[in-house]
Amino acid sequence: MKTNQYQEEQQEMNEEMLAAVAKLTRAGFLLLIVLIVLFWQNYTLIFKKDVPDKTLTSIDYILPITLSETAQKGKTIFIANCAACHNKNMRDDLTGPALGGVKEKWAAYPRQDLYKWIRNSQAMIQQKHPRALALWKDWNPTIMNSFNSLKDDDIDAIFAYVEEVYAAR
Ligand code: HEC
Repeated sequence: MKTNQYQEEQQEMNEEMLAAVAKLTRAGFLLLIVLIVLFWQNYTLIFKKDVPDKTLTSIDYILPITLSETAQKGKTIFIANCAACHNKNMRDDLTGPALGGVKEKWAAYPRQDLYKWIRNSQAMIQQKHPRALALWKDWNPTIMNSFNSLKDDDIDAIFAYVEEVYAAR
């Protein structure tokens, strides 16, 4: 009789212990899932902090923004003439430098200088224009195409587009 009662107690304790272990396992499992999800979500933040994403060059990845009429015209000219070398996100370098904020970099010089650069960059380098020389120091021997046929208006439209995209991101 005594053994039986002892055994019953033992059995009860075992069951309680098993239930507790099961609870702990479930909790551990849930915690693991939470950790995996958190890790997954932050993976790029933890491991790829300073690596610019070179794949983000498509115009489509830029959030839909409403372009002014001028910028819309500039977009067409930019895609046809400049996008092969200048990143469409206006922030990352490609074959040529990112164009976002470029107007400020030329603000110290007459407005015509930037137009001249686009029509014939090598001529500006030969004339030892300070901005042209600084660019050439970083980017030679890559030569930018000359765009003699672009009017001032066309170039203004390109930079309206550049700045609207740059400001939107
Ligand atoms: C063949 C590639 C190529 C094409 C096409 C091209 N560029 Fe460039 N661009 C460059 C390179 C490379 C530089 C850096 C300077 C150098 O190496 O001459 C540059 C520099 C510039 C700069 C000076 C940036 C700064 O920081 O001051 C501007 C502005 C610019 N390009 C505008 C344009 C525009 C606008 C178009 C289209 C009409 C265009 N580029 C087409 C390659 C290109």
